[in-house]
Order: sequence, then structure tokens, then C-alpha cells
Amino acid sequence: MTGYQSVSFQESSTSDTERVDILLSQMTLAEKIGQMTQVEKNSITPEAVTEYGIGSVLSGGGGSPAPNTPQMWARMTRRFQEAALRSRLGVPLLYGVDAIHGHNNVAGATIFPHNVGLGATHDPELAARIGRITAVELSATHVHWNFTPCVAVPQDIRWGRTYEGFGEQTDLVSEMGAAAVRGLQEADDYSGLSHRQAILACAKHFVGDGGAAWGSAGQYEWIQDNWQRAGSQYQIDQGDMNGDEATLRAVHLPPYQVAIEAGARSIMVSFSSWNGLKLHAHKYLLTDVLKREMGFTGFLVSDWMAIDQLDPDFYTCVVTAVNAGLDMIMVPFDYRRFILTLTQAVEKGDVPLARIEDAARRILAVKEEMGLFAQPWGDESLLPQVGCQAHRQVAREAVRRSLVLLKNEGALPLPKNTPRLLVAGAAADDVGLQCGGWTIEWQGKSGPITPGTTFLAGVRETVAAETAVNYQPDGRFPANLTADAGIVVLSEPPYAEGVGDRADLTLPASDLALIERARPHCRRLIVILYSGRPLIITDCLPRCDAFIAAWLPGSEGQGISDVLFGDYPFSGKLPFTWPRSMNQIPACAAEDTPLFPYGYGLTTKGGK
Ligand code: BGC
Ligand code: BGC
Repeated sequence: MTGYQSVSFQESSTSDTERVDILLSQMTLAEKIGQMTQVEKNSITPEAVTEYGIGSVLSGGGGSPAPNTPQMWARMTRRFQEAALRSRLGVPLLYGVDAIHGHNNVAGATIFPHNVGLGATHDPELAARIGRITAVELSATHVHWNFTPCVAVPQDIRWGRTYEGFGEQTDLVSEMGAAAVRGLQEADDYSGLSHRQAILACAKHFVGDGGAAWGSAGQYEWIQDNWQRAGSQYQIDQGDMNGDEATLRAVHLPPYQVAIEAGARSIMVSFSSWNGLKLHAHKYLLTDVLKREMGFTGFLVSDWMAIDQLDPDFYTCVVTAVNAGLDMIMVPFDYRRFILTLTQAVEKGDVPLARIEDAARRILAVKEEMGLFAQPWGDESLLPQVGCQAHRQVAREAVRRSLVLLKNEGALPLPKNTPRLLVAGAAADDVGLQCGGWTIEWQGKSGPITPGTTFLAGVRETVAAETAVNYQPDGRFPANLTADAGIVVLSEPPYAEGVGDRADLTLPASDLALIERARPHCRRLIVILYSGRPLIITDCLPRCDAFIAAWLPGSEGQGISDVLFGDYPFSGKLPFTWPRSMNQIPACAAEDTPLFPYGYGLTTKGGK
């Protein structure tokens, strides 16, 4: 029995707050700082988790065990938790991941549409159901903490994280974000965060990440890290939002207020800055506004190595961030250096002990609310539900409802008994492209990266037995082959974060050439686009009879054929204004009309 448990803190007469106070009174400075430390899983051993009393371990994008199976995930996280429980006071750790569209690092998990697609459904209830399913799949692998929802309000679609946001309007983001929080945190019999299948949500990235300007991302020559070197090409991501406080409060702050009301107990701070001051150094926004004014009593976690960007001197970084109000630091690599530095800062009086007490208390209070001291485990009996049919059905439903029909001149719905269908585009038969970034790997990847149904497989499943489906990835059909209908599937290559910042969103010439090759073979041509944001399709639109914005639909491509062949109606509505040209980005001038306005979307008659 550990010292902590021996003070009978589990006695029902003791309140949560008292139990946390008792625990805190037993902790050394090193143990409190250990709680404030979050380490990437490949950078620490279970033995070191025990020795330092580490508060949290995370898997970054693609941070999977080998082999990448749900069972191995459960084994990996279990080893870290066991190690935490062996520490002097036996404080359980929080294992965190980015399960931003399902448990997306795990091969075989259900992959839902990215948030941009959920925004197109305008349906918070669906977002909540998806959160619940994601929570079940996380719980099966002993993961307690999900770095989602992203409640950014993207104002410039050149940003590589546009698809992580639910849309360009604050109200939509607020509503969908709050629903996602509830879905993750509230198990069916609502018993609060202490339910074994409740997952701690994390609203991110506080605040104004969606307002950063093109070309405002900084350079940090002193950071020696491959990823940071890649980051030197970032344009918007991690950049600066230049604007007054009224705009910040009106556009970017409300989703946090609503998320807090929905029960969010952790918030991740943004890499970005506001009027030149990094959020990780922003005491006014973190402490005065978020914690005091908005009454946020949960804890703040920093983003990946983000404090390192504050100053070439790491001591200054640590002191500034912790004093600004950061409670847990996503180090993520050299945790010894972080622990040593923060310890020195406290000893020298540069970080007040009271700040350490407050940070540790906030973290422990959330762990207590989650019931982790009594029950630190997820539920491996749920492993068979990871990627199960019932979950995939909900993903398929989400795909159906997320599709936005932008043009339809008598082409849709397609009859299932069309004698011949031509399908073109490599994306038509590619789960990886359907899923986009943050799938199996941080940047995502094309190809059969995880089990799922491609669009083409869905078509084959849906059409009548006598329908011939001819598929040519490059659209080079035999010269004399013609059909009543042809479908061309286009896709942005997968990307995540600033790697997806793009100056020019014009559909590439190779996509137009693909359409040109397929066009003469089909009486009616339907174009489906997989993308994380609107692209400039103005030249392509006249060449087709129907155009579908499918966003990044995820593993269940059959949801597209469900709607294409009329089993269900098209119902999605644009969560972003669709620009006519790059001149309308970042914002469409008032006197100028976009190609399609926010909220646009045609409908069709559907069977069910
Ligand atoms: C990790 C991601 C992380 C990124 C930094 C990658 O190496 O896998 O999880 O977000 O670095 O942005
Ligand atoms: C991203 C966060 C993510 C974290 C951990 C960072 O690079 O900005 O959104 O939660 O990595 O993977």
C-alpha cells in the first residue's frame, strides 16, 4: 500500500478537495513538479515514470507501439500506468493522445470525418455520439485523455489546420465543440467524469489560433529538432493574430466559455501569439481572463515543445510559461532538463511555490474527479469494440450527412441499375487519402493504411449486379468506351498542422487534366473532392454536371455511395465560405460574391 492511500483518502467522509489537500501536503517539491511534467512515450521508460512521479505521458501523432494493434496499445499504456502507481505516492498518470477523428493512431480503429465534415452536418448530437464512440475505443486501450476538440475558428483557409475546426463561424464551433466535450466525458448512464468510459476532453488551442495571419509564423533557430526545422516553412500555423481584444473576445473566445460550461477540465494553450506575444507567455489571457474572469478551474497544458519557442534561454522559457499560468508542460523530450530547470527556478524564487502548488492541485483535482485514484484503468473488455461494425455504421452515417452538394444538373441521384459506370482518380480507391492527416501517422499517408471501405468498394457494393464498373485511376479509358455516368475523385494530399499551410489553393493542373481525360467518355460527369478546406474549383465546375465536397470522410467511404445512389438525401451545408479565386482569401470583400456562400448546399430526394 502506498503512503498516499494509507492516509485513508478513499474514505467516503472525505471530500474531493480535502483528499487533494491531504495528498498535496504529503508531496515533495519534486513530486509536485513531476505532476506538472508530460513526456512523449518514446522519450521515457516506465522506471523513470516511477522515479520522477511523472504526471502524464503522451503519444504524439503516430506515436504507436509496434505492432500497431489495439491490444499492444493497451499493453503499452498499462505499463506506464503500473509504473506511475509504483511511485512513492502512487499517483496515477494521465495518458494523452490526439484522437481527433476517432482513435486515429490505432490501426483498425473507426475513423470519422475530420471536424470540417462534422461542421457541415451542423448536428451537435452527431458530434456527441462520435465523441462517445471515440471514448469507448480510447477506454479499451487505457487512454484517459484526448487532446480534442479543436475549437479554433479558422479565418484563413490557407491554414493547414483548417479541417480541425468545425467551421468559420463562432456559433457553429461553439455548439459542435461543446457537444464533442459532452460526448467524450459523459458515459451513457451519465455519472460524470468518474465513469470508467469517460475521457477527459481538452479544448484547444487557446486562443486565436484560427486568427493568425499569413506569413506571421516565427523562426526559432535555437531549437534543434527535425520537426521544428520543418516548421520553418510554416506560414500561418503557430503565427500571430493581429487584432483588437474585442475581436478576440467575439470571434475566438466564446467556444472556450461554452466548452467550460459543457464540463471541459483541460485546455491546451496555442503555439500562436496575439499581437506579438506568445500565448504560452500570456499571463493576461491565461490567468486573468481564462482562469479568473472565465472561472476555469481545470488545468492548462502547453503544446508540444511550445515553451521552447519563448526564448533562446530555456530557464527563461520555463519561468515565463509557468508564471503565465501553464500547469502542465508537454516537454515532450528532455524531461530531466525541464524538471531540473523548474526546480532551480523555484529554489531561486523566480517561480513562486504557490504557483507550483496551484498547478499541482489543479492536475490532482482533475485526476480525483476522474476517479483515477480508485480506478486508474480503462476497460480492456471493450477491445472487441475498437473498429467494430456498430461504430463504423455511425462513421458511415456521419459521412452521408457531411457531404455538401455544390452543383447538380440532373446528374444525381444515380440509378443503381446504370448499365455502366466509369470511375477515375487514385483517390477513389484509397483509404489513406479519405482519412487525411492525423491518421496512423501525424501527417497521414496515402494507401491502405488502416482497414476501411474505399469509395470504389462502396460503389461496387451499392450498384445493381448487372452494372459494370470500370475503374481507371488515371482516367485513361479505352477510346471507344462510353458510359451514362462517370465519377472522378480528386484529393488533396494528406497533411497536418503547418505542413499544410498553402499559398495557392487552386486545383492542380493534373486534376483538371484527369477530368479532361474522363469527360469524353461520360454523358454525365460527377466530381467528388476530398479536401480539408474549400479549394479553387472555378475552372473545373463548368466541366462537370455535379460536384460534391466530401471533406476528409475517414474510413467509411460507403457513406458516399449511400447518398450518390439515392438511399439517403444530400443534406450537408458549407461550414466555410467557398471562394471563387485566391483574391477572396483570407476574406471575401463585402461587394464581392463568393462562389458559394457559407451554409450553401443542395439537397436531393433520398430513400430513407
Ligand atoms: C508528433 C506530433 C506533434 C508534432 C509537432 C510530431 O513529431 O508526432 O504529435 O504534434 O511532432 O507538431
Ligand atoms: C499540436 C497539438 C497536439 C500536440 C500533441 C502539437 O503539435 O499542435 O494539437 O495536441 O502536438 O500531438
